Amino acid sequence: MSTASTDLIDAFNAAGQGQVFKWYDQLKPEEQQALLEQAAQIDLSEVAELNDTLVQGGGGHGVDLSDLKPAPYIPLPDKGGDAKSWAGAIATGEEALRAGRVAAFTVAGGQGTRLGFDGPKGTFPVTPVRKATLFQVFAEKILAARQRYGAPIPWFIMTSTINHEPTQAFFEKHKFFGLGEDTVMFFRQGLMPAVDYKGKILLADKGEIAMTPDGHGGSLRALVRSGATKRMAESGIDTISYFQVDNPLVHAVDPAFIGFHLQAKSDMSSKMLPKAYPKEKLGHFCEQRGRHVVIEYSDMPDTLTDRRRPDGQLAFLAGSIAIHVLDRAFVERMGGGGTGASLPFHRADKKIATINATGNPVKPQEPNGVKFEMFVFDALPFAENPVIIETARQDEFSPVKNAEGVDSPQSSRDDQIRQWARWLKAAGVKLSCDKTGLPEFTLEVTPLFADSQEAFVEKWNALEKKPTVTDGLLLK
Ligand code: UTP
Repeated sequence: MSTASTDLIDAFNAAGQGQVFKWYDQLKPEEQQALLEQAAQIDLSEVAELNDTLVQGGGGHGVDLSDLKPAPYIPLPDKGGDAKSWAGAIATGEEALRAGRVAAFTVAGGQGTRLGFDGPKGTFPVTPVRKATLFQVFAEKILAARQRYGAPIPWFIMTSTINHEPTQAFFEKHKFFGLGEDTVMFFRQGLMPAVDYKGKILLADKGEIAMTPDGHGGSLRALVRSGATKRMAESGIDTISYFQVDNPLVHAVDPAFIGFHLQAKSDMSSKMLPKAYPKEKLGHFCEQRGRHVVIEYSDMPDTLTDRRRPDGQLAFLAGSIAIHVLDRAFVERMGGGGTGASLPFHRADKKIATINATGNPVKPQEPNGVKFEMFVFDALPFAENPVIIETARQDEFSPVKNAEGVDSPQSSRDDQIRQWARWLKAAGVKLSCDKTGLPEFTLEVTPLFADSQEAFVEKWNALEKKPTVTDGLLLK
């Protein structure tokens, strides 16, 4: 064994993580090599610190709840916002889009354990009639924006080692949905070792450490490390439209949002929606000593979630829905290491596939260990001039998280149909809907037909022969 390998194994032993090499002597030379390479990526002192604070410390990461105030946000024009400033923001955003300054960016490195779908979440069929996948929906939104603004709008997609290859293969199989192969860039996020409740690094197999993605906050350093930000800089892109892989209603690029962000010279901007009820499971946008922070719902005490303004409205109203615009230079600063500030890790208790004392695989039914994750919104306190704008839930937020119930394929499908039903009604079509706005039948409008109500009404009105509005109506 080389001295470097012995040193590495010694270091693991010294750190109380010798179990990682328990089966080492039984492995083939190439398996030993692979395990050593995996182990060499791990920062043992970081793992020890996270064990102390997050695992043994019981998960509390010392959230500072002092001096919290609701963060200010820009309301929608129909909720008291200034229509003129929205129009001005749209003009600014459209100009930036036409000038080719904007890239779309999707974080798709998560494991999607709650949905329980076998494959990258972006390959999940999500639309009601075509059963188009999440990736296809976003691809078509980007194509529609390219056509509208006559700009390249490249798409950056963050994967993790676990789903990178199937994600790429999916795009290849679908010929990149017409986007052009060279305009879609995939890159992997970082990984962290998973540990058991005693803080011991878990093995996925005798020669493999259980590594898990380092959270969507890992996107900042992955954007830099992968060369994505460099590539953006070379093509004149300074503005990144960030969204998650699970929300088919999201606007892949939104001129109003981009415009407000650019006008304010913001490092990082966010969209909020008013929480539906005090305990809704959304992060809260707060202001703390002049900085923006997101406090997770699980960390907000009832005294704050339930607080009301004199007009009866919730004081901490603004829920975070993980839609951001990022300034490229800010990402370079935050993700570049060294000079950049680093994001804290959070603890997530998960079911982690591992092996037992006799080396046989175990598929836990209950969480058996801890994953360490960074959250992108933890970059907010470092951002200068952050902007938060309001969006309408029914127009922009219906994620697919769970297999059933809230935020499930069914709820997201219904929300998509409700949106298209509203568009049809806005175009003057008579539709009978239940009191939630859901029509009696399924229908679908592809982003290439129209990607907003305004675009829909225009396109519909221009149709010489209007299609019969009936079950399975597909407008593409
Ligand atoms: P979620 O918080 O829903 O996590 O991710 P998840 O891992 O996908 O799903 P569960 O919790 O196991 O069911 C929100 C978004 O952040 C991305 C996801 O792909 C999704 O778009 N994400 C999450 C990453 O890109 N990397 C991560 O490490 C975690």
